[in-house]
Amino acid sequence: MGKMTAPAVAAAKGTRRITVLTAYDYAAARLAEAAGIDVLLVGDSLAMVVLGHEDTLSVTMEEMLHHVRAVARGAEKALVVADMPFLSYQVSVAEAVANAGRFLKEGRAGAVKLEGGREVVPQVRAIVAAGIPVLGHVGLTPQHVAALGGFRVQSKTAEAAAKLLEDALALAEAGCFGVVLECIPGPVAARVTRALPVPTIGIGAGPDCDGQVLVFHDVLGLYDRLRPRFVKQYAELGQQAVEALTQYADAVRNLDFPGPEHTFPMDPEALAAFLALAATGTADADTPESSNI
Ligand code: KIV
Repeated sequence: MGKMTAPAVAAAKGTRRITVLTAYDYAAARLAEAAGIDVLLVGDSLAMVVLGHEDTLSVTMEEMLHHVRAVARGAEKALVVADMPFLSYQVSVAEAVANAGRFLKEGRAGAVKLEGGREVVPQVRAIVAAGIPVLGHVGLTPQHVAALGGFRVQSKTAEAAAKLLEDALALAEAGCFGVVLECIPGPVAARVTRALPVPTIGIGAGPDCDGQVLVFHDVLGLYDRLRPRFVKQYAELGQQAVEALTQYADAVRNLDFPGPEHTFPMDPEALAAFLALAATGTADADTPESSNI
């Protein structure tokens, strides 16, 4: 497989399922690459799972860029999608294009993602016109958490589901190469997936989307503050990490670590000379080495 691109993701619709995972640093990007993940989303969820905030609202452009650059350095083949943080695209179309551009120019991402339906179509059109691929995101849009009153399943009524369908169609028509469907009933996601000419990427949206995204820390059991029902955890790395770190701390306390195999030896003659110097107190003299410390 060559380098994954936004057009390649769009073209995969109907041919194979698209795998998407969030990643926030170089190490995670390398692991996801080795697992053959198609798309690495540097989600603004990093505000919660990496930076410890309660929601995604406070993460800044500079913080996002810092993480996008790290992921881009680790992503050889996967497409890197940078999530546009809260208020980086809502205020004006011009600001949206400038900020999206920074993710490609400074962050080396291959695309950006933003949240919202018809209300962000002017931004999507302008960003796409600037040559920047855009991934849409409807359903539960965490940047609207204050207005939504919490992280809740969306589109449960016929009217809300019909509005979501219209929003997703408008995003595709505006040029999005795909649309994330978050936390909506499975049958609604299935209908939207049938209607859209571009892939849907589900999270909490059932099995009928064209692709699937999950948060890295949720997949590996590294975040325990929020565990949505739609998450499937594939490993208990958090627990394993605590066990390993406890062993390390015990070994340090018990003088089991570091052992001889972790210690640098010294030439016996140099050591004898050093010990003699130390005994006469000359080691305290203002030698070039000691004055550098
Ligand atoms: O920020 C994020 O991780 C996301 C995904 C959950 C889609 O937006």
